Amino acid sequence: MHNITLIKGDGIGPEISDAVLKIIKSAGVDINWDIQTAGADVIEAEGVPLPDRVLESVKKNKVALKSPVTTPIGKGFRSVNVQLRKELDLYANLRPCYNLPNVKTRYEDVDIVVVRENTEDLYAGIERQVDENTAESIKRITRSASERIAKFAFDYAVKNNRKVVHVVTKANICKLSDGLFLESARKVAKDYDIPLKEILVDNCCMQLVQNPNQFDVLLLPNLYGDIVSDLCAGLIGGLGVAQGANIGKDYAVFEPVHGSAPDIAGQNKANPTAMLMSALEMLNYIGEKEASVRIKEALFKTLSEDIKTADLGGSYGCKEFTNSIINRL
Ligand code: NAI
Repeated sequence: MHNITLIKGDGIGPEISDAVLKIIKSAGVDINWDIQTAGADVIEAEGVPLPDRVLESVKKNKVALKSPVTTPIGKGFRSVNVQLRKELDLYANLRPCYNLPNVKTRYEDVDIVVVRENTEDLYAGIERQVDENTAESIKRITRSASERIAKFAFDYAVKNNRKVVHVVTKANICKLSDGLFLESARKVAKDYDIPLKEILVDNCCMQLVQNPNQFDVLLLPNLYGDIVSDLCAGLIGGLGVAQGANIGKDYAVFEPVHGSAPDIAGQNKANPTAMLMSALEMLNYIGEKEASVRIKEALFKTLSEDIKTADLGGSYGCKEFTNSIINRL
């Protein structure tokens, strides 16, 4: 029996987490889910969007599966997602991105892993209103965090037989901050046989769209990592299929790349694949590899039989798609 925290999130979060829990249960994996709520819905009762009980639960269980949580735009509370990553020091955001069977895109054989620094950069939330007409945000980059994430990227590359790491920055403009990130990557790379290539983020975006197959592991600071992840999701069929994980020294929180998708929430339209793929990595992480493989086979079989949700051009609802996977388990 595994004890795992589940943060159900909001928007499409509850739909996709219910779907994934149902699939995992059907596969016979014994998990005691500690269900935790966070975000706008808990503020009224508890005063904060990320109560201590959520952090305590993850600290106790060491592993969490998380659905997206809405962040108010331009005002309101700070992102629960960013806060969670920072509080638990989940410094590596790992986002493997590859084509799934029968998910039609313009690109074939995409196999990119985005490694995004997860604790600093503009996400440190150091902002101030200088005067009525001026606001500023501090882009904080440290040597320790940069070296740590570079080491993570190279260790991942070695372990997973990857051929090249691209470090992605804008060090021609942000000479000090991105310069430090780049310098850290160069230093760490010296300890590995895998080559490090350097690319500016604007060119990287263009190259990704023109020829994604030239890329293998991408190493990026927080903001570029966030943006490039969505671009990479677009290469393989969209956010409905893009998985992710936040990994730290002591804890791991698995969550899809996408947000709470308020435009389709509560309509049985959400694609649970991204959440499911994230959960499959979680199963690998806790040693349930056999179940993870079995579920992935059922998912791939389902997609191959043209059973797909609307975001992938199909006509199945979230529930019907989920049941189809379960039937193939
Ligand atoms: P989003 O990722 O929620 O949605 C972008 C587009 O992709 C929408 O058209 C949506 O319908 C579609 N989409 C996303 N996931 C899908 C799925 N599973 N199946 C089918 N279609 C899907 O991005 P948006 O609209 O910019 O953000 C909405 C909220 O989510 C914001 O409050 C944002 O802060 C939050 N967010 C939370 C994240 C997290 O909890 N880790 C990550 C990203 C955004």
